[in-house]
Amino acid sequence: MTEYSVEVKDLTKRFGDFVAVDRASFSVKRGEIFGFLGPNGAGKSTTIRMLCGILTPTEGTGSVSGFDIMDEQDRIKNIIGYMSQRFSLYDDLTVRENLEFFGSVYGLQGARLRERMAYVMKMADIGRRQDAVVKSLPGGVKQRLALGGAILHDPPVLFLDEPTSGVDPVMRRTFWEIIYDFSRNGKTIFVTTHYMDEAEHCDRMALIIAGKIIALDTPSALKAALPYSVWSLRVERFIEVFEEVAALPFVEEAAIFGSDIHIMTKKGFPLKRELAGAFKVKGIKGFSIEEVGATLEDVFVSHAARLGV
Ligand SMILES: Nc1ncnc2c1ncn2[C@@H]1O[C@H](COP(=O)(O)OP(=O)(O)O)[C@@H](O)[C@H]1O
Ligand SMILES: [Mg+2]
Repeated sequence: MTEYSVEVKDLTKRFGDFVAVDRASFSVKRGEIFGFLGPNGAGKSTTIRMLCGILTPTEGTGSVSGFDIMDEQDRIKNIIGYMSQRFSLYDDLTVRENLEFFGSVYGLQGARLRERMAYVMKMADIGRRQDAVVKSLPGGVKQRLALGGAILHDPPVLFLDEPTSGVDPVMRRTFWEIIYDFSRNGKTIFVTTHYMDEAEHCDRMALIIAGKIIALDTPSALKAALPYSVWSLRVERFIEVFEEVAALPFVEEAAIFGSDIHIMTKKGFPLKRELAGAFKVKGIKGFSIEEVGATLEDVFVSHAARLGV
């Protein structure tokens, strides 16, 4: 077995003239949590669908657990778990019926099926709700049950397409605990998200914009590579001041962050001093500024700005 669960090179998907995924190359190590972070329409689902053997790539090569994504799609389907963006549960069926359905798809029977169903129901916190119809379950439970459906056959590689989209923050945290648990048990996780904070949970991540991977590394390396200092400015009437700040020549990027203004400057720029000078001229009084660590959002903003999107 190779060290990598997923390897792709120049993976491309075109729909007519439109390039949804443009020569993506990356590898995912066994046991790794690998994140795909990008805005809506970036090409995340299209990539996942090609890796899961649902969609045939237009160009490029790739393998999942050693199976070719071009001509061993049927083999791949049996050894992966896939949680699609729309939870793949039947709303009008009960919890038990849904899991039995997944069981039949994966060819699970008898004691093995019962054992896996019990595991999933525990993970999803089903309790006494085995015979409840899925649509009556709270969102977070439904989400975990959908994950359970994807892992009923205990696959070594798991593809999760925006699994926490629309789920409240507490439930999101519980969900990530489960993901960590899988990873600790040697499962490989490929997860897409558009939540910047969530990408911090990944071992490595790729930023994808308009079908192209624009950066790929650990979250800390991506932040460290940012050629900017990131500052947090607190000032009265911050909404009015924002326009002025954004227009200053030494401000590379400015964004409102809660009731603060986040500013990016060239690394090491003496912002405190320069801002004091500029504010004095404009008659803006009473502000405080401190350098803060970059977030993945800052990384994303800087790459997006560089590409002009
Ligand atoms: N079957 C399809 N036919 C035509 N265009 C598609 C199809 N599937 C996806 N697209 C387009 O490809 C782009 C990427 O879509 P998608 O991979 O779903 O993005 P994401 O999951 O990052 O939001 C979008 O512009 C979308 O409209
Ligand atoms: Mg998607």
